[in-house]
Amino acid sequence: MKPAMETKHLTLGYGSCTIIEDLSVKIPKGKITVLVGANGCGKSTLLRSLARLLKPKTGTVLLNGHNIAKQSTKKTARELAILPQGPVAPEGLTVFQLAKQGRYPYQSWIQHWSEEDERMVNWALEVTQMTELAHRPVDDLSGGQRQRAWIAMTLAQGTDTLLLDEPTTYLDMTHQIEILDLLYALNEREGRTIIMVLHDLNLACRYAHHMLAIQNGRVLAQGAPEQIMNEQLVESVFQLRCRIMEDPVYGTPMCIPYGQGRQMLTEKTSALGG
Ligand SMILES: Nc1ncnc2c1ncn2[C@@H]1O[C@H](COP(=O)(O)OP(=O)(O)O)[C@@H](O)[C@H]1O
Ligand SMILES: [Mg+2]
Repeated sequence: MKPAMETKHLTLGYGSCTIIEDLSVKIPKGKITVLVGANGCGKSTLLRSLARLLKPKTGTVLLNGHNIAKQSTKKTARELAILPQGPVAPEGLTVFQLAKQGRYPYQSWIQHWSEEDERMVNWALEVTQMTELAHRPVDDLSGGQRQRAWIAMTLAQGTDTLLLDEPTTYLDMTHQIEILDLLYALNEREGRTIIMVLHDLNLACRYAHHMLAIQNGRVLAQGAPEQIMNEQLVESVFQLRCRIMEDPVYGTPMCIPYGQGRQMLTEKTSALGG
């Protein structure tokens, strides 16, 4: 496996608090990798350090074999784009202006706004279905529209590697699937590497080639969803009992969480049967 990204003995944290310790992990190139894990387990912390937004306490992050701490911000930004969790746009900024920000790695005092920049921004707005809303201020939009505006900015950056922290948050089911299908198409047609955090385990299993299950800052399991997903893993990672079945449409693992709710089918059947 040729890794797009790799961490070597990475230790991450905030102040004196360590969140991730001595993590060495490889992320395959040209594949979709999904990070799953309970709230607060360190997914965003890891993703931010992969994007150089968080400096490691110790250890290194490699992007296409190069230590990202040693390369320029612009070079990194031409290779990797990140959509962080819960981003906030400056007041009054329009969708178009936000998407334009994705082109900053290509600007310099000699290289001004180009046709290519314009083309990429228009393409990103188009594929996220934001063209019609391009001149609206980002603050005036619904949560889902705002999320798509940020995704447009991330795509406009035109990088081979895309990091997205919960890109489907705030989106209704239709838009969740549209965004995941778009990321899938970018991977399938253009071979882009996608690394994302998803909360919906079933969608994670459907779209991921590779999955990292994180618990308390440690990678508890990694591999294809079919290989690593089982009831014990879900119980360890999410403290949730469940049943794993095969998704009847996609054949990927599907998790049915146990909990309260209406009667279970087995109980109902036996009740009906007397
Ligand atoms: N900026 C920060 N300062 C201090 N602690 C933080 C900060 N960001 C996250 N944390 C803590 O780090 C841990 C992991 O957080 P995070 O990576 O955001 O988890 P996840 O994305 O998996 O929900 C949590 O305990 C969280 O409270
Ligand atoms: Mg997070």
